[in-house]
Amino acid sequence: MTDGLSENPAALLRWYIDAGVDECIGDAPVDRLTKRAPASQPAAAQPAAAASAPAPIVLRSAAPVPAGLPADADAITSAVQAAQAATTVAELRAAVESYEGCGLKKFASRAVFADGNPQAPVMFVGEAPGADEDRQGLPFVGVSGKLLDRMLASIGLARETNAYITNIVFWRPPGNRAPTDEEIACCLPFVRRHIELVDPQVLVLVGGMSAKTLLGKPTGITRLRGHWYEYETPGLSRPVPTTALFHPAYLLRSPDQKRFAWRDLIAIKQKLASIPPV
Ligand code: URA
Repeated sequence: MTDGLSENPAALLRWYIDAGVDECIGDAPVDRLTKRAPASQPAAAQPAAAASAPAPIVLRSAAPVPAGLPADADAITSAVQAAQAATTVAELRAAVESYEGCGLKKFASRAVFADGNPQAPVMFVGEAPGADEDRQGLPFVGVSGKLLDRMLASIGLARETNAYITNIVFWRPPGNRAPTDEEIACCLPFVRRHIELVDPQVLVLVGGMSAKTLLGKPTGITRLRGHWYEYETPGLSRPVPTTALFHPAYLLRSPDQKRFAWRDLIAIKQKLASIPPV
């Protein structure tokens, strides 16, 4: 390698993790530094390079990745029960962190629950944590998060004060693959309860996966954005005005679409301004 990774084991490991190769194949650790070749295979019989180099750590590539544990009916039932039992955002966070029914948890470093002000008038729901979010335990802190912050700032919003941000799944899918329907299904009771507890004046669904899931429509983001919907669940006192926004990661890849996002941001600002303070 010519990029310095081969001389820097920590950077090499980080490179593997970012690529989704983040799990050893065996359950029990093997100390390969002390493991000797069997006596019947004298070291001299090994190729020279293999004899001098430590045996490689065997890592399982996460791409393609098994879809994680299937979210069976029990997993969804226990998610519904745990979510409904939470009466505050802090309780819900604790319930998410202790939930064992989502297969993604097995691959992630930690749950990524939310960031921002839970009293904020506007709540953003993105898709799934990536590598940076998995490391920091906060949503939208990587490159697309920086763009989201700039988009929010352009209409006077900031996570430190008047915006609240979460995702449709709470754990990073390995290798940044899309979450499966089962993984989304077992997180959804928590997401719905999250919206009820935050009770925002305006809900913004960031990206197609979030929009399709929470609007319950099979339509793509290009057609879902640019409209207002009413999001309603039994625990909400009233329907929440809801819209969809192109995902910042998509805008980074397709900057010509930013003009539509800009229109949507203006519409969000106007909607917020039109709602009388409670
Ligand atoms: N993309 C998302 O949808 N959510 C994050 O938290 C980060 C990137």
